[in-house]
Amino acid sequence: MKRVLVLNGPNLNRLGLREPGIYGSQTLEQINAWVADEGTRLNISVETKQTNHEGQMIDWIHSAATDADGIVMNPGAWTHYSIAIRDAVASINVPVVEVHLSNVHAREEFRHKSVIAPVAVGQICGFGANSYLLGLHALIGEWTKREQVISQKGEGAGI
Ligand code: DQA
Repeated sequence: MKRVLVLNGPNLNRLGLREPGIYGSQTLEQINAWVADEGTRLNISVETKQTNHEGQMIDWIHSAATDADGIVMNPGAWTHYSIAIRDAVASINVPVVEVHLSNVHAREEFRHKSVIAPVAVGQICGFGANSYLLGLHALIGEWTKREQVISQKGEGAGI
C-alpha cells in the first residue's frame, strides 16, 4: 500500500476560525478526516500532520525520503519565502505536490510567487479543501508516470 504524508504548515491549525471568507469554515481536523477517507477509498495510507515550526516541517520532509511514497503539502506562508523548505523538498526523491485552499494567484502579489513549486511535481490551488484530494490524485498519476519511466529504462537496458 502506498503511503502519503499530508503536511500542513503555519496557521493552518486555525482553519475554521481563520478568515473563513478565504479559507472556508471547515477545520483542519475535518479536512484531514475527509482526506483520510479518500485515502481509504483509493487504498492509500494517509498520515496527516501540521506544524507552525519550520524545523519540524523540514524534519518531516527528510523522514519522508524513506518513510513515504508521496507528500501533499500546504506550506502556508512558507510557500512564498522559505528556501529551507524548498531545499528540503529538493533533497528527497519522493514526489511532493504543493496545495493551497485559496487561489494564491488571485490574491496579494506577494502570494503569487512560490519558491516551492519549482521543486514540487506541481501546484494545485483555489479548490478549497478539495485541493488536498486533487493532490492525492496527482500523486497517483505521478507514481504511474515514474513506474512507466522505470520500466521503459529496463526495456532499453534489455531487462
Ligand atoms: C495558503 C495560502 C498562503 O498564501 C497563506 O499564507 C496560507 C494558506 C492556502 O492554503 O490558501 O497560510 O497556503
